[in-house]
Amino acid sequence: MSTLARKLLIAGNWKMNLNSSEASELAESVVNQVGTQMEVAVCVCPTYTSLETVSQKVVDSNIALGAQNMHHENSGAYTGEISAEMLRHLFVSFVILGHSERRRFFGETDSDVNKKALAALEASLKPIVCVGESLEERESGQLESVIESQIKGALLNVSPNHADQLVIAYEPIWAIGTGKTATPQDAEAVHAFIRKLLVELLGAEAAGKVRILYGGSMKPENAEELLAQENIDGGLIGGASLKAHAFTSIVESAIKLSS
Ligand code: PGA
Repeated sequence: MSTLARKLLIAGNWKMNLNSSEASELAESVVNQVGTQMEVAVCVCPTYTSLETVSQKVVDSNIALGAQNMHHENSGAYTGEISAEMLRHLFVSFVILGHSERRRFFGETDSDVNKKALAALEASLKPIVCVGESLEERESGQLESVIESQIKGALLNVSPNHADQLVIAYEPIWAIGTGKTATPQDAEAVHAFIRKLLVELLGAEAAGKVRILYGGSMKPENAEELLAQENIDGGLIGGASLKAHAFTSIVESAIKLSS
């Protein structure tokens, strides 16, 4: 865990799972189990259709609400899209941007992610900007250049003043939903590289405030070791966030490291 003052953040990415009743039930279990602790920041990111009901479940707890995507414009003729303002209205505080599934299946580019990140920050939402390499890119030695262009592209014109609102998630594509996890050392090496890029972009003081999450098959069995790394400031959890017990036990690992 970081030695600087970065509170660990454990975020659950529920992806396209759970109807609103199921989501409400899961949110209730998470609130019951870890909703009052203050050591670790916790956030759940349901589908749009469950945001309102989950919002009502988490409102009086320390569990924050996140969305999985948004459009960069405030309103207008963008059928099927949702704006930052609409998310704020439901007390959403985080928004996942540029997840590799959005990039792969919906053609999102670094420039799209950049527009969304700027709009999110402007609306006081905390963007969780996802980056990560494919196995092919890693094996052909392109890891650093891929991460560098994603980070520089997504964070163009982001002000250092927003550093404490900004979250990066390093999610190696080959580790997402596959059961394969980067070793803590491999993950830490990429996180440290991302921190170095943030120093270049935002300056050292601001870079020290940005949280960098790891994502990709994080689960109760491997969470503690990953979260113990200096530049790993939390986790973005997919599969394991759909089970209250697995998710909250990752939160417990984070609490243990924070106290
Ligand atoms: P996973 O997903 O934990 O199921 O690998 C992580 C993510 O895609 O955010």
